[in-house]
Amino acid sequence: MQQEAKRLLQTGKTIAFVPTMGYFHEGHLALMREGRKHGDALIISIFVNPTQFGPGEDFQGYPRDVNRDMSLAESVGVDVIFAPEAKAMYDKAYQTHIDLEMLPRYLCGPSRPGHFRGVATVVTKLFNIVKPHVAIFGKKDYQQLLIIQRMVRDLRLDIKIVGVPIVREADGLAMSSRNNYLSENERRSALSLFQSLQQAQETVAQGIRNARELIRGASELIRSYPYTKIDYVTVCDPETLEDVDRVDGPTLMALAVWVGKTRLIDNTILKPSNYSGSKFQGSRFKVRER
Ligand code: PAF
Repeated sequence: MQQEAKRLLQTGKTIAFVPTMGYFHEGHLALMREGRKHGDALIISIFVNPTQFGPGEDFQGYPRDVNRDMSLAESVGVDVIFAPEAKAMYDKAYQTHIDLEMLPRYLCGPSRPGHFRGVATVVTKLFNIVKPHVAIFGKKDYQQLLIIQRMVRDLRLDIKIVGVPIVREADGLAMSSRNNYLSENERRSALSLFQSLQQAQETVAQGIRNARELIRGASELIRSYPYTKIDYVTVCDPETLEDVDRVDGPTLMALAVWVGKTRLIDNTILKPSNYSGSKFQGSRFKVRER
């Protein structure tokens, strides 16, 4: 892959990159379609990265179907698929990791210790191997996107990071490879994530700004569905991820909920109806020209 990346660079090609763990759905394909717009060559990786799974998490059971993934990738114009084996990425003596100080402390960090260290490390390695000009990530993993953006800035990596809006099923459930774990009944309960975010949006539109009240409303809605167990519901600053008391400008509402044995995440940016500023308005994730 490194040789192929060098060859592409030598011929003056720009490389757009979409890192994935495979088992593609429309959300992945949206990332690839976005990637297609940003590079002469579109490279994706398929790698279920062991270092971002904790003990007892679903590393072994994570859905995999590389043949199906390959034909879907081809259908959206992917040029190169990099699908390394774990031992090619981490040899026995492997000992170097990337740790961010603050952002991993919030949201998913406490329930998934080491997760973002694994993500930041593998993404850095993939960047070094694929040598992209542009890399594309989904906003469903909002915290991951923020962490990658911070890491790229901190380490002065010369890579433009592009965020792509969440892709949802017709009824609103955010697409995720993990949705495949859900039984029919659990699938119905999984809708509570989106519904609670929608309810919060409506509550904010009615003029209620109190974060606690929004969190309480969302939690009650989620708990009214069977099989659900809340990991967290947070209303926080969209840049630092620190909790806020009030929604006075664009504010992140993020949640993680166990539905049966499946942990699902979702998020939205809450905006007060009279907000006219432009501080966040999506600008954090807007495509920047190089
Ligand atoms: O979002 C994912 O699929 C993974 O966390 C990533 C970015 C491919 C790193 O393994």
